[in-house]
Amino acid sequence: MIENKQIDKFNFQINYYIDNDVAGFIKYEVTFEVINIVDVFVYENYRNKGVGSKLLSYLIKNVEARKFMLEVNEHNIYAIKLYKNFGFKTIHVRKKYYKDGDALIMELKKDVYILAIESSCDETSVSIVKNGIVDVATTVNSQIDVHKKYGGVVPEVASRMHLENITFVLDETLSKANMKLEEIDAFACTYAPGLLGSLLVGLETTKTLSLIYNKPFIKVNHMMGHIYANNIGENMTYPLLALIVSGGHTDLIYMKDEKNIEYVGQTLDDAVGECFDKVARIVDLPYPGGPNVEKLALNGEDTYKMPELLNDGSANFSFSGIKSHCVNLVHNEKQRGNEINKENLCCSFQNAVTKSLIDKTMIALKKTGAKRLILAGGVASNSFIRESLKSMCENNDVEFSVPDKKYCTDNATMIGAAAFVLYKQNKFSGLDTNAKSHELLSL
Ligand code: KG4
Ligand code: ZN
Repeated sequence: MIENKQIDKFNFQINYYIDNDVAGFIKYEVTFEVINIVDVFVYENYRNKGVGSKLLSYLIKNVEARKFMLEVNEHNIYAIKLYKNFGFKTIHVRKKYYKDGDALIMELKKDVYILAIESSCDETSVSIVKNGIVDVATTVNSQIDVHKKYGGVVPEVASRMHLENITFVLDETLSKANMKLEEIDAFACTYAPGLLGSLLVGLETTKTLSLIYNKPFIKVNHMMGHIYANNIGENMTYPLLALIVSGGHTDLIYMKDEKNIEYVGQTLDDAVGECFDKVARIVDLPYPGGPNVEKLALNGEDTYKMPELLNDGSANFSFSGIKSHCVNLVHNEKQRGNEINKENLCCSFQNAVTKSLIDKTMIALKKTGAKRLILAGGVASNSFIRESLKSMCENNDVEFSVPDKKYCTDNATMIGAAAFVLYKQNKFSGLDTNAKSHELLSL
C-alpha cells in the first residue's frame, strides 16, 4: 500500500507499506511547480525489493510537477542508477559537498503536452505538441475549396465552417495521438491577428477546454506562431533575424533571445502574399494565388519589365507599386487585344519580389549584425524564395533555416511550439481573453 501524507504547507511524505510496516518513504517539498525530493529511504529489511523504484514511480506519476530535483552523493552508485533509470540527468555538481565527495544535482523534467488550436483564417487546425518541439499529431482542415468559388476568404462563411469542423478536427487529432484530453498539460490558441469570427471559434473552444480540465490557457500571437514553426524538430538558436512573409504580413524581426523582439522592417502597404494572390487573380488563377503563381513561374521566363521596388536604404518593403503595375499591364494588354504570357508574367513578378526580399533582408542583417536568418509564413513555402534566400545566406556566411513546407502555411503545430515558450515563462492568460483582428508581434 502507498499513502501520500501532507506534513505541512509545503512538505509531504509518501510511505510504502509491506504487511502494515513502513518499508520505505520519500520526503518531498513543493516549491511552485518544482518538486524537491528531500529524502528517499528504504529500511534495511526491505532493501533490494524494488521499494525505492515503486516510491519514485508513484511520485512521478501522481504528483503534478514540471520537474523533480534531488541531490545525491556521487558514491551512492545504486541510487544514481535508480534515478537515471527514471530519466534523471545530472545538471550540476556541488564540489566537496560531502566529507567523502561531491554532490550531484539531478533533475527530471516531465514531458509537456500542449494542445493548440489555430483558426485565424480559413484553416481549422488542432495539434498536440510535446515539449514545444515534437509534433505528436496535427490535423489541418482547409476550407480552400469552399472559398475558391468566391475568389477569396469570405469571413462569415469561414467562421461558420470553423464552428462546424472544430470538434471533429479536435477528435481526429486526439485519436491520431492516441491521447485523452486529461493528459494535456495546457491549452493554447491563436487569439490575434486574424478574422474576428474565425478567431473566436478557436478561442472559445480552447478556453472551455482549459476551464473543464483545469489546465492553463495560453494565448498566442499568430505571427509568433509562424516564427516558432522553425522550432519544430530542432530548437532555434539566438540571436536571429526572422523574415515573415504571409498573406497579411511582411516583417523583418530581430530576436536577441526568446524574450526580446524588435521590428527592423515592415511593409509600408501590401503584404507579399496578398500581392501573389492579386497577381494570380488578374491572370485568372484560382485562390489561393501564391502556389499557382509559383507553378506557372516555373515554366516562364523573366521577360516583363517590373518597376524597381522600394530602394530607400531602409529594411522596409513596399509591394503596392508592383501590384498596380501588374494590374495595369494586364488591363492595357487586354484592351489592345494582346495575349498575356501568364508564365512569363508570374516569373517576372516572382523574381522582382524575391529580389526585394533579398535586398531588404541583407540590409537588416547588416543593421543588426545577425548571423542567423529564419524564414516563416505561408509564402515561405515557395521553393524559389526558399532557395534564393538560402543561397544569399550561404554567400554571406549566414546560417539559414526554414520550416518544412507543411509548417509554413497556417497550422496549429506552430501555435503549440510558440505556446511552449510562454508555458516555460508561466505566461498564462485569463478566461476573459478576447480575440483581436490586429496586433503587432507580441510574446
Ligand atoms: O501564413 P499563411 O498561410 O496565412 C496568413 O497568415 O496570411 O499565408 C497565406 C499566404 C497566401 O497569400 C498565399 O497565397 C501565400 O501565403 N502562399 C504562397 C505560396 N503558398 C502560400 N505564396 C507564394 N508561393 C507559394 N508557394
Ligand atoms: Zn498565417
